[in-house]
Amino acid sequence: MSIVIKTPAEIAEMKTACRLASEVLDMLTPLIKPGVTTQELDAIATRYIQQEQQAISATIGYQPPGYPPFPAALCTSVNHVVCHGIPNDRPLKNGDIVNIDVTVIKDGWHGDNSRMFIVGEGSIAAKRLCQFTYEAMWKGIEKVRPGARLGDIGHAIQSYVEPAGFSVVREFCGHGVGRKFHEEPQVLHYGRPGTLEELVPGMVFTIEPMVNAGRREIKELQDGWTIVTKDRSLSAQWEHSIAVTETGYEVLTLSAGSPPPPDFVRGV
Ligand code: MF3
Ligand code: CO
Ligand code: CO
Repeated sequence: MSIVIKTPAEIAEMKTACRLASEVLDMLTPLIKPGVTTQELDAIATRYIQQEQQAISATIGYQPPGYPPFPAALCTSVNHVVCHGIPNDRPLKNGDIVNIDVTVIKDGWHGDNSRMFIVGEGSIAAKRLCQFTYEAMWKGIEKVRPGARLGDIGHAIQSYVEPAGFSVVREFCGHGVGRKFHEEPQVLHYGRPGTLEELVPGMVFTIEPMVNAGRREIKELQDGWTIVTKDRSLSAQWEHSIAVTETGYEVLTLSAGSPPPPDFVRGV
Protein backbone atom coordinates (compact mmCIF):
# COMPACT_ATOMS: atom_id res chain seq x y z
CA MET A 1 0.00 0.00 0.00
CA SER A 2 1.29 3.46 -0.75
CA ILE A 3 -1.28 6.15 -0.16
CA VAL A 4 0.17 9.58 -0.91
CA ILE A 5 -0.43 11.98 1.99
CA LYS A 6 -0.81 15.61 0.90
CA THR A 7 0.37 18.60 2.95
CA PRO A 8 -2.06 21.43 3.68
CA ALA A 9 -0.22 23.53 1.07
CA GLU A 10 -0.63 20.77 -1.51
CA ILE A 11 -4.32 20.42 -0.69
CA ALA A 12 -4.69 24.18 -1.17
CA GLU A 13 -3.19 23.75 -4.66
CA MET A 14 -5.46 20.79 -5.37
CA LYS A 15 -8.48 22.89 -4.46
CA THR A 16 -7.88 25.04 -7.52
CA ALA A 17 -7.99 22.04 -9.85
CA CYS A 18 -11.04 20.71 -8.02
CA ARG A 19 -12.89 24.02 -8.19
CA LEU A 20 -12.19 24.24 -11.91
CA ALA A 21 -13.60 20.73 -12.42
CA SER A 22 -16.75 21.80 -10.59
CA GLU A 23 -16.95 25.02 -12.60
CA VAL A 24 -17.00 23.03 -15.83
CA LEU A 25 -20.22 21.44 -14.58
CA ASP A 26 -21.58 24.85 -13.57
CA MET A 27 -20.86 26.16 -17.06
CA LEU A 28 -22.58 23.18 -18.71
CA THR A 29 -25.68 23.20 -16.50
CA PRO A 30 -27.82 25.69 -18.49
CA LEU A 31 -26.89 23.95 -21.76
CA ILE A 32 -28.25 20.53 -20.78
CA LYS A 33 -31.62 20.67 -22.50
CA PRO A 34 -33.60 18.50 -24.93
CA GLY A 35 -31.95 18.54 -28.36
CA VAL A 36 -28.35 19.14 -27.35
CA THR A 37 -25.90 16.31 -28.06
CA THR A 38 -23.29 15.13 -25.61
CA GLN A 39 -20.69 15.70 -28.34
CA GLU A 40 -21.69 19.37 -28.45
CA LEU A 41 -21.39 19.60 -24.67
CA ASP A 42 -17.99 17.92 -24.85
CA ALA A 43 -16.69 20.35 -27.48
CA ILE A 44 -17.81 23.29 -25.34
CA ALA A 45 -16.24 21.79 -22.22
CA THR A 46 -12.96 21.02 -23.97
CA ARG A 47 -12.64 24.58 -25.21
CA TYR A 48 -13.59 25.97 -21.80
CA ILE A 49 -11.00 23.85 -19.95
CA GLN A 50 -8.22 24.66 -22.39
CA GLN A 51 -8.95 28.30 -23.26
CA GLU A 52 -10.77 29.78 -20.25
CA GLN A 53 -9.31 27.72 -17.44
CA GLN A 54 -5.85 27.24 -18.97
CA ALA A 55 -6.09 23.71 -17.67
CA ILE A 56 -5.72 20.22 -19.14
CA SER A 57 -8.36 17.53 -19.59
CA ALA A 58 -7.26 14.43 -17.70
CA THR A 59 -9.45 12.17 -19.79
CA ILE A 60 -8.59 13.08 -23.40
CA GLY A 61 -6.23 10.29 -24.44
CA TYR A 62 -6.39 8.65 -21.02
CA GLN A 63 -5.48 5.00 -21.52
CA PRO A 64 -5.25 2.62 -18.58
CA PRO A 65 -3.76 -0.81 -19.43
CA GLY A 66 -6.18 -2.80 -21.60
CA TYR A 67 -8.28 0.21 -22.63
CA PRO A 68 -8.37 2.24 -25.84
CA PRO A 69 -7.53 5.95 -25.34
CA PHE A 70 -10.57 7.86 -24.03
CA PRO A 71 -11.57 10.39 -26.72
CA ALA A 72 -13.25 13.19 -24.75
CA ALA A 73 -13.07 15.67 -21.88
CA LEU A 74 -16.41 14.48 -20.50
CA CYS A 75 -17.82 11.11 -19.63
CA THR A 76 -21.51 11.40 -20.50
CA SER A 77 -23.53 8.50 -19.13
CA VAL A 78 -27.18 8.58 -20.18
CA ASN A 79 -30.03 6.58 -18.57
CA HIS A 80 -28.89 2.93 -18.28
CA VAL A 81 -25.24 3.86 -18.88
CA VAL A 82 -23.50 3.42 -15.53
CA CYS A 83 -20.25 5.26 -16.26
CA HIS A 84 -17.58 6.08 -18.86
CA GLY A 85 -20.12 6.95 -21.56
CA ILE A 86 -18.44 8.47 -24.62
CA PRO A 87 -20.01 11.70 -25.94
CA ASN A 88 -21.94 11.06 -29.16
CA ASP A 89 -24.25 12.72 -31.70
CA ARG A 90 -27.59 11.55 -30.26
CA PRO A 91 -29.63 14.52 -29.02
CA LEU A 92 -30.63 14.35 -25.37
CA LYS A 93 -34.39 14.03 -25.02
CA ASN A 94 -36.94 15.12 -22.44
CA GLY A 95 -36.78 12.86 -19.39
CA ASP A 96 -33.27 11.51 -19.95
CA ILE A 97 -30.92 11.46 -16.98
CA VAL A 98 -27.24 12.05 -17.65
CA ASN A 99 -24.14 11.89 -15.49
CA ILE A 100 -21.41 14.25 -16.57
CA ASP A 101 -18.00 13.40 -15.13
CA VAL A 102 -15.08 15.75 -15.67
CA THR A 103 -11.48 15.67 -14.48
CA VAL A 104 -9.10 18.56 -15.06
CA ILE A 105 -5.40 18.98 -14.33
CA LYS A 106 -4.18 22.35 -13.10
CA ASP A 107 -0.58 22.95 -11.98
CA GLY A 108 -0.06 19.18 -11.98
CA TRP A 109 -3.01 18.42 -9.70
CA HIS A 110 -6.18 16.53 -10.65
CA GLY A 111 -9.73 17.54 -9.72
CA ASP A 112 -12.38 14.88 -10.38
CA ASN A 113 -16.15 15.27 -10.00
CA SER A 114 -19.50 14.42 -11.51
CA ARG A 115 -23.15 15.32 -11.17
CA MET A 116 -26.49 14.04 -12.44
CA PHE A 117 -28.65 16.18 -14.70
CA ILE A 118 -32.28 15.64 -15.62
CA VAL A 119 -33.08 16.70 -19.17
CA GLY A 120 -36.31 18.70 -19.24
CA GLU A 121 -39.02 17.08 -17.13
CA GLY A 122 -37.86 13.88 -15.43
CA SER A 123 -40.12 11.07 -14.26
CA ILE A 124 -40.68 10.69 -10.52
CA ALA A 125 -38.60 7.50 -10.60
CA ALA A 126 -35.71 9.21 -12.37
CA LYS A 127 -35.72 12.17 -10.00
CA ARG A 128 -35.85 9.88 -6.99
CA LEU A 129 -32.88 7.81 -8.19
CA CYS A 130 -30.77 10.91 -8.82
CA GLN A 131 -31.64 12.48 -5.45
CA PHE A 132 -31.14 9.21 -3.62
CA THR A 133 -27.70 8.68 -5.18
CA TYR A 134 -26.69 12.22 -4.19
CA GLU A 135 -27.69 11.43 -0.63
CA ALA A 136 -25.80 8.13 -0.80
CA MET A 137 -22.61 9.96 -1.78
CA TRP A 138 -23.07 12.26 1.22
CA LYS A 139 -23.72 9.30 3.55
CA GLY A 140 -20.20 8.24 2.59
CA ILE A 141 -18.67 11.72 2.83
CA GLU A 142 -20.07 12.15 6.35
CA LYS A 143 -18.00 9.20 7.59
CA VAL A 144 -14.70 10.79 6.59
CA ARG A 145 -12.52 11.75 9.56
CA PRO A 146 -9.18 10.63 11.02
CA GLY A 147 -9.52 7.21 12.61
CA ALA A 148 -12.47 6.14 10.50
CA ARG A 149 -11.87 3.33 8.02
CA LEU A 150 -12.61 2.96 4.33
CA GLY A 151 -15.08 0.18 5.18
CA ASP A 152 -17.13 2.70 7.16
CA ILE A 153 -17.65 4.74 3.98
CA GLY A 154 -18.64 1.74 1.88
CA HIS A 155 -20.98 0.46 4.55
CA ALA A 156 -22.69 3.82 4.99
CA ILE A 157 -23.44 3.96 1.27
CA GLN A 158 -24.51 0.34 0.88
CA SER A 159 -26.74 0.37 3.96
CA TYR A 160 -28.50 3.49 2.69
CA VAL A 161 -28.97 2.26 -0.88
CA GLU A 162 -30.00 -1.37 -0.56
CA PRO A 163 -32.99 -1.05 1.81
CA ALA A 164 -34.52 1.34 -0.72
CA GLY A 165 -34.50 -1.43 -3.31
CA PHE A 166 -31.65 0.07 -5.33
CA SER A 167 -28.26 -1.57 -5.87
CA VAL A 168 -24.62 -0.51 -5.64
CA VAL A 169 -22.27 -1.23 -8.55
CA ARG A 170 -19.26 -3.23 -7.29
CA GLU A 171 -16.85 -3.15 -10.23
CA PHE A 172 -15.96 0.55 -10.03
CA CYS A 173 -14.95 2.52 -7.00
CA GLY A 174 -13.66 5.82 -5.74
CA HIS A 175 -9.92 6.36 -5.72
CA GLY A 176 -7.07 8.39 -4.36
CA VAL A 177 -6.49 11.48 -6.48
CA GLY A 178 -3.67 14.00 -6.63
CA ARG A 179 -0.71 14.29 -8.97
CA LYS A 180 -2.07 11.08 -10.46
CA PHE A 181 -5.64 10.63 -11.72
CA HIS A 182 -6.15 7.26 -10.04
CA GLU A 183 -4.03 6.55 -6.97
CA GLU A 184 -4.39 4.35 -3.94
CA PRO A 185 -6.57 3.73 -2.08
CA GLN A 186 -9.58 2.16 -3.75
CA VAL A 187 -12.74 3.49 -2.13
CA LEU A 188 -15.41 0.80 -2.36
CA HIS A 189 -19.04 1.88 -2.15
CA TYR A 190 -20.00 -1.22 -0.16
CA GLY A 191 -18.40 -2.97 2.78
CA ARG A 192 -18.23 -3.59 6.49
CA PRO A 193 -17.65 -0.98 9.19
CA GLY A 194 -14.28 -1.02 10.92
CA THR A 195 -12.52 -2.74 8.00
CA LEU A 196 -9.85 -1.66 5.50
CA GLU A 197 -7.45 1.29 5.65
CA GLU A 198 -7.63 3.82 8.49
CA LEU A 199 -8.07 7.41 7.34
CA VAL A 200 -5.42 9.97 8.28
CA PRO A 201 -5.25 13.72 7.62
CA GLY A 202 -3.88 14.53 4.17
CA MET A 203 -5.46 11.61 2.33
CA VAL A 204 -7.41 12.81 -0.69
CA PHE A 205 -9.81 10.52 -2.52
CA THR A 206 -13.05 10.49 -4.45
CA ILE A 207 -16.37 9.11 -3.35
CA GLU A 208 -18.44 8.31 -6.45
CA PRO A 209 -21.17 5.75 -5.91
CA MET A 210 -22.95 4.27 -8.91
CA VAL A 211 -26.50 3.28 -7.96
CA ASN A 212 -28.78 1.19 -10.19
CA ALA A 213 -32.56 1.28 -10.04
CA GLY A 214 -32.56 -2.47 -10.74
CA ARG A 215 -29.92 -5.16 -10.31
CA ARG A 216 -26.27 -4.34 -9.71
CA GLU A 217 -24.82 -6.35 -12.61
CA ILE A 218 -23.17 -4.44 -15.43
CA LYS A 219 -21.65 -5.12 -18.83
CA GLU A 220 -19.09 -3.36 -21.01
CA LEU A 221 -19.94 -2.32 -24.55
CA GLN A 222 -17.80 -3.01 -27.65
CA ASP A 223 -16.23 0.45 -27.55
CA GLY A 224 -14.11 -0.73 -24.64
CA TRP A 225 -15.33 2.00 -22.27
CA THR A 226 -19.10 2.30 -21.93
CA ILE A 227 -20.55 0.46 -18.94
CA VAL A 228 -24.30 -0.27 -18.88
CA THR A 229 -26.67 -2.03 -16.52
CA LYS A 230 -27.25 -5.63 -17.59
CA ASP A 231 -31.00 -5.29 -16.96
CA ARG A 232 -31.07 -1.88 -18.71
CA SER A 233 -32.38 -0.22 -15.55
CA LEU A 234 -31.50 3.42 -14.92
CA SER A 235 -28.21 4.20 -13.19
CA ALA A 236 -27.05 7.33 -11.38
CA GLN A 237 -23.73 8.57 -10.00
CA TRP A 238 -22.35 11.60 -8.17
CA GLU A 239 -18.71 12.28 -7.37
CA HIS A 240 -16.72 14.63 -5.17
CA SER A 241 -12.99 14.76 -4.39
CA ILE A 242 -12.56 14.84 -0.59
CA ALA A 243 -9.61 15.60 1.70
CA VAL A 244 -9.30 14.10 5.17
CA THR A 245 -8.67 17.00 7.60
CA GLU A 246 -7.59 16.99 11.28
CA THR A 247 -11.23 17.12 12.34
CA GLY A 248 -13.17 15.48 9.52
CA TYR A 249 -13.38 16.19 5.82
CA GLU A 250 -13.20 18.97 3.29
CA VAL A 251 -15.05 18.66 -0.01
CA LEU A 252 -12.60 20.06 -2.57
CA THR A 253 -14.78 19.97 -5.70
CA LEU A 254 -16.98 22.91 -4.81
CA SER A 255 -17.97 25.96 -6.82
CA ALA A 256 -20.79 28.49 -7.01
CA GLY A 257 -23.09 25.97 -8.69
CA SER A 258 -22.51 23.00 -6.40
CA PRO A 259 -25.78 21.68 -4.99
CA PRO A 260 -25.97 22.11 -1.20
CA PRO A 261 -25.46 19.08 1.01
CA PRO A 262 -28.62 17.19 2.02
CA ASP A 263 -30.34 18.29 5.24
CA PHE A 264 -29.01 15.32 7.21
CA VAL A 265 -25.41 16.53 6.82
CA ARG A 266 -24.20 18.25 9.97
CA GLY A 267 -20.84 19.43 8.62
CA VAL A 268 -17.44 19.51 10.33
N1 MF3 B 1 -13.59 10.45 -14.00
C1 MF3 B 1 -13.72 9.02 -13.92
C2 MF3 B 1 -13.53 8.70 -12.46
O1 MF3 B 1 -14.27 9.22 -11.70
C3 MF3 B 1 -12.74 8.29 -14.77
C4 MF3 B 1 -13.00 8.49 -16.19
S1 MF3 B 1 -11.76 7.75 -17.10
C5 MF3 B 1 -12.25 8.04 -18.68
O2 MF3 B 1 -12.66 8.03 -12.01
F1 MF3 B 1 -11.23 7.80 -19.41
F2 MF3 B 1 -13.29 7.31 -18.92
F3 MF3 B 1 -12.61 9.30 -18.83
CO1 CO C 1 -13.14 9.49 -9.99
CO1 CO D 1 -14.79 11.20 -12.25
